[in-house]
Amino acid sequence: MSDKKYIVGNWKMNLNIHEASLLLYKLDSEVNNHYDVEIVLAPPFLSIQTMYLQSDHRKFKLAAQNLYWHDQGAFTGEISASQLRGLVKYALIGHSERRNVFGEKGRDISRKVQAAIRNNIQPILCVGETALERSDGETSDVLHDQIIGGLNNVTSHDMEQVIIAYEPVWAIGSGRSALPADVESAAKTIRQNIKHMFGQSVAKKTPVLYGGSVSPDNAQGFLRADGVDGLLVGGASLDPVKFAKIIESAHNIDSK
Ligand code: PGA
Repeated sequence: MSDKKYIVGNWKMNLNIHEASLLLYKLDSEVNNHYDVEIVLAPPFLSIQTMYLQSDHRKFKLAAQNLYWHDQGAFTGEISASQLRGLVKYALIGHSERRNVFGEKGRDISRKVQAAIRNNIQPILCVGETALERSDGETSDVLHDQIIGGLNNVTSHDMEQVIIAYEPVWAIGSGRSALPADVESAAKTIRQNIKHMFGQSVAKKTPVLYGGSVSPDNAQGFLRADGVDGLLVGGASLDPVKFAKIIESAHNIDSK
């Protein structure tokens, strides 16, 4: 568990640079700066530089939605961790849309995690089962495989940088979120796998977030769930009022 709550907004492939800049402007007036909440925005690559210049760096941290593992070279269309270095504090790695739409495999994801760490970018490794895997009772096997696959070349020391996001694929963009009890059990499984790889103290310290149809109405339920350190928000992060409400629900959650 971490002493801060993380609220991460994944804007996906939405908004041009003007719209992104406007959303940041609106968020800035809606959102209060709380020292117990780390607010992270993951805009499309194109807007990262503008947002870096425009944003209040104490209030908003930036994340990339993806990156490539080689630092430079003949890789048309890719963006490397070394190009993102200094602009973003975090990077989503292995989001289910990357795995399922673009065919990213465990090996790609593990290289991306290492490239992020090598370039001082904290990876937010996304894991989670599909509806079919869930109905087949394979959730913990999937979490095991994705955790081992993503973190197999990482050291205990590197783990200080790593955040895990549990994002059941069936809950993403579906309006059908998981139940806080399911998220608690997934967070437990994730920490058990981390414990087997890196020991108890690393497992305890690694932040675990939940993502999948998070809204202002259900955010508090997840934030109160045992072992959950924050939220990865897709659709609702594009609405400044909704996203600000989610951030407010993370502030002082332990005393609410
Ligand atoms: P959603 O997306 O909140 O729209 O379900 C979450 C995500 O994909 O990170």
